[in-house]
Amino acid sequence: MHVLLLSGSTRSGATTTAVLRTAAALAPSGVTTAFAPSPADLPAFDPDLDRDPLPPAVAGLRRAAGAADAVLCCAPEYAGTLPGSFTNVLDWLVGGGELLGKRAAWINAASVAAPTGGAGATAALATVLGYLGAEVVPAACLRLPVPRQAVGPDRLVTDPSLRDRIAAAIPALVAPAAPPATAGAVRVDVVGPGDLPDLLPLLRAYCDFYEVAPSDAQLERLCRALIADPVHEGRQFLARRDGGAVGFATCYWTWETTGADRVAVMNDLYVAEAVRGAGVGRALLAACRDAARDHGAARLVWQTAPDNHRAQRLYDRTGAARSTWLTYELPVDAAGQAAVAR
Ligand SMILES: Cc1cc2nc3c(=O)[nH]c(=O)nc-3n(C[C@H](O)[C@H](O)[C@H](O)COP(=O)(O)O)c2cc1C
Repeated sequence: MHVLLLSGSTRSGATTTAVLRTAAALAPSGVTTAFAPSPADLPAFDPDLDRDPLPPAVAGLRRAAGAADAVLCCAPEYAGTLPGSFTNVLDWLVGGGELLGKRAAWINAASVAAPTGGAGATAALATVLGYLGAEVVPAACLRLPVPRQAVGPDRLVTDPSLRDRIAAAIPALVAPAAPPATAGAVRVDVVGPGDLPDLLPLLRAYCDFYEVAPSDAQLERLCRALIADPVHEGRQFLARRDGGAVGFATCYWTWETTGADRVAVMNDLYVAEAVRGAGVGRALLAACRDAARDHGAARLVWQTAPDNHRAQRLYDRTGAARSTWLTYELPVDAAGQAAVAR
């Protein structure tokens, strides 16, 4: 497998480039890596130049992208989005189509002091990779604040715990796809754009169960927000059995002040009526638990309806404790304002 490294910074001591250099240095055997041309070496994208003979640097970029099996990006955030020079690199890749169907991931190394943790740049990158037809591998995407002092004189990240996490990105990016499930076995995957046709009917069935009716567009917007930014928003999982989609669960990231901890909220879990009792719910719950742990969350929390005794029987068998906290809900529109003002 060959991984193309796309750095979004042109700065000589760039942290982002150091992160990619470190990922390359720690890549497993059997994986080769190469840096794409620097954003500084490409001309400004111009459709008039996007024809043969291409500017030599652009031809080099497209050759490098064509030779890669996967791409790993690391870009800083400038003014709430990707640096313009990096967007320019990606613009040049639109016309060539070299990333179509190829795996892609990013490491977001924005500092802990960054106002939004680099979320604007990550969201923009997810959008552009979508337009390029790349297949984002959520398990390989990483939010890892890397301070400038963590880069050593050899221009590699020196901190061992940061290095361990960077080292995991390329193996996750190139990991072979899971084999097809054997008959009756439940397979759970992180939802990608290609899963939406299977997922959306399950979301609709879930909403019908709770007698609520968001529009199809609203449900799709929710799913796409999670796909675009699994590092900040959360993760959605789809369970399949014998090839058919049979359930989903969604895990949203948040924080809890009392323990100053990250917390994961499993704000829905649904299993199609016909396959209840076959281990699908348990498999989805396990996927959410593992994702919460990988995200650094201290716990996974969820609610269920007081009269949903069947779900409670499953949850009581998983080792989860019932919370004694009460849940309140306040609308944030005029009715909510009036209620608080009283
Ligand atoms: C023009 C400019 C705009 C920036 N805007 C943001 C921003 O909106 N959000 C943010 O988190 N950091 C912002 N930064 C900080 C950079 O993301 C930060 O310096 C980062 O470490 C640069 O990456 P590098 O070390 O790989 O060059 C900005 C920096 C510059 C130079």
